[in-house]
Amino acid sequence: MDQYRVYGNPISQSKSPQIHQSFASQTEQVINYQSELVAVDEFEQTVRQFMADGGKGANVTVPFKEEAMAICDELTSRAKLAGAVNTLSFKAGKILGDNTDGLGLVNDLLNHQVTLANKRILLLGAGGAAKGVILPLLEQKPTSITIANRTVSKAEALASKFNNKRINACGFSQTSGQNFDVIINATSASLSGDPLPIPPSVITTDSICYDMVYSSEATAFNSAAINNGAKQTIDGLGMLVGQAAESFTLWRGVAPETTQVYQQLKRALMASNPE
Ligand code: ATR
Repeated sequence: MDQYRVYGNPISQSKSPQIHQSFASQTEQVINYQSELVAVDEFEQTVRQFMADGGKGANVTVPFKEEAMAICDELTSRAKLAGAVNTLSFKAGKILGDNTDGLGLVNDLLNHQVTLANKRILLLGAGGAAKGVILPLLEQKPTSITIANRTVSKAEALASKFNNKRINACGFSQTSGQNFDVIINATSASLSGDPLPIPPSVITTDSICYDMVYSSEATAFNSAAINNGAKQTIDGLGMLVGQAAESFTLWRGVAPETTQVYQQLKRALMASNPE
C-alpha cells in the first residue's frame, strides 16, 4: 500500500490523516496516510529514511516548511516564491517540493463565492503564512495586494521580492482611510487571541474577511470583523481541506471533491464545542 506522512511538531492535532483517508475512500485510492511527530533536529533524516523505505510523499507543517524546501532536489515556482514547502513527492530517489497552501486559500474563497479578479486585497502579516499565498492570490488578477505588517520592514521586504506593481506594503496604521474588498489575516495574532491588528474603520459592511486559522467559534479576528459589520467572515478550515486536496491530486493524479470533507470537519468541530 502506498505510504504518506504528515510531519510536524506538534502534530497530534493534525486533521490531515482524516482528510486524506476520506479523499482516498471517495476516489477509491488505496493509501496509508499517518501523522508523525518529528524531533526538531531530525526532520531531514526522518524524510530520507521514509523515502528509502518506499514512502511516496509527505506533507510538512510547522516548524519544518522552510527546512523541507532546503532538502528538495526540485521545486515548483510557487514553492520557491513562498520560501516554504508543504508537499513532498518522492520520484526516482529525488525529492520534489511544492506549496499548495495558496491554492487551498484561493479555492476556499471561490467555494465561498468570493472571486478576486479586480478586487483590492489587504493581506495582514508578512511571515510564512502570508508569503505562501501571495503568488496564487496574484494569479487571480486582483487590482492590488497590500501587505500590512506590525513590522513594516518585513512587509516591504516581502513586497519587493515580487517586484510587481500590484503589490505594495505598509504598516497597520497606514491602512486607515483605504478601501479593501477582501481582508485576509495571515498573522498569528488570532492564535494568541490578540485584538485586531488594523484600525477598525478599515472593516466596513462591504468587507469580506478571511482568517487563515480556524476554531469552533469565530476566531478573534473574525469576531472583531463581525462586530464591525463585515459582510462575510470565513475561517481557515476550508483552506486546510483545500491544500490537502491539492497535495492529494499531485500524488494520486485524481482530484477529490472537498465539500463533503469540509462539512464533516465543520460538524465535528461544532460538536466538540456546542456552546
Ligand atoms: P507564520 O509562519 O504563522 O506566518 P511567523 O513567520 O512567525 O509565523 O509570522 C507571524 C506573523 O504574525 C508576522 O507577520 C507577525 O508580525 P511581525 O512580523 O511584526 O512579528 C504577526 N504577528 C504575530 N503576533 C502578532 C500580533 N499580536 N499583532 C500583530 N501581528 C502579529
